[in-house]
Amino acid sequence: MSDLEIDRLSKRYGKLQVLTDCNLMAEGGSVVTLLGPSGCGKTTLLRSIAGFVEPDAGRVMVGGRDISMLPPNRRDVAYVFQNYALFPHLTVAQNVAYGLTVRRRPRAEIARRVDEALGLVALSDFGGRYPKQMSGGQQQRVAIARALVLEPQVLLLDEPFNALDAQLRLTMQVELRKLIDRIGITSIFVTHDQAEAMILSDKVAVMHGGRIEQLAPPLAIYDQPSTPFVADFIGRANIMPVQVRAGHTQTPQPVPTPRPDGPAVMIVRPENFEVVPGTATGWPGRIGFATALGATIEYEVDCGMPDALRVSMARAPGAGPLAQGTDVTLRLRSTDGAIVLAGGAAHV
Ligand SMILES: Nc1ncnc2c1ncn2[C@@H]1O[C@H](COP(=O)(O)OP(=O)(O)O)[C@@H](O)[C@H]1O
Ligand SMILES: [Mg+2]
Repeated sequence: MSDLEIDRLSKRYGKLQVLTDCNLMAEGGSVVTLLGPSGCGKTTLLRSIAGFVEPDAGRVMVGGRDISMLPPNRRDVAYVFQNYALFPHLTVAQNVAYGLTVRRRPRAEIARRVDEALGLVALSDFGGRYPKQMSGGQQQRVAIARALVLEPQVLLLDEPFNALDAQLRLTMQVELRKLIDRIGITSIFVTHDQAEAMILSDKVAVMHGGRIEQLAPPLAIYDQPSTPFVADFIGRANIMPVQVRAGHTQTPQPVPTPRPDGPAVMIVRPENFEVVPGTATGWPGRIGFATALGATIEYEVDCGMPDALRVSMARAPGAGPLAQGTDVTLRLRSTDGAIVLAGGAAHV
């Protein structure tokens, strides 16, 4: 199981700087997800690892070995494409065998490895079918088997579940994670779906405008986002302009922070607010919108800020939400759970 390391990788197309100084470390056997909005450079970074894109600067290393100068077919990495890219005129087994066939492996070895790879994705009985006789989820598993059969050091997957419906996606996400754990292959997974990133990843690299803005385990990113962009992209976030004085925010419930005096932004997750009727210590406001989901009650509370503050509270059995228009107080459940970041005019 080899580590994958990306060191200060940059890429520009003409005047467009697509990747800037990207650093990333994926420990052997772990899954790192590249997560970010469309156009932020995820595919370009993944293709740079595969060798399909030649970066302007930076290195890619697998198991400590610099592979930056190697052609794609000598990099020992396998790529699963967004649209599967199966050959329609070949059977499933022939599709999976393809990479070994072009490498002129002996026939008996090909048969054995194809059987193994199809077994890994639970398609042992489907080798004789053609892709069009398979469901979307099955075709996706064929594409993964076709990558795994090469026994690569690194598996690269570019939004592999996009074409699948929500239910199947969830099943495939869990199955892929189990498969990766079973065979222990270092994997880089691209998605724009934050829930998918949370399910699959040991670490998430949140990308924004060609930069990796934060690289950390999913829960660490949720609890300690390093920028307002990350906070807003992973989960939901109330982003509030605040002033810091003497190690605390100047807010109804002061939040301790090591930040210097001056403007900052405070990030509060909806579940870290609670709504209490009437006046209390906290942010006075009025309920602008309320809805009860099964397990939670969701509020939007107007506190005289540009954006309403969002609150998510556990729902007691039989309980309903407070009525719209009710005067309430918003309270932090935990001042430690509020995050104070650098920010001033630019973020407000
Ligand atoms: N071959 C190319 N030539 C010119 N611009 C490109 C090329 N490939 C990607 N880009 C641009 O680079 C940016 C990042 O693209 P991409 O890596 O595909 O983003 P993502 O996968 O995050 O959606 C986009 O603005 C895209 O238009
Ligand atoms: Mg892409």
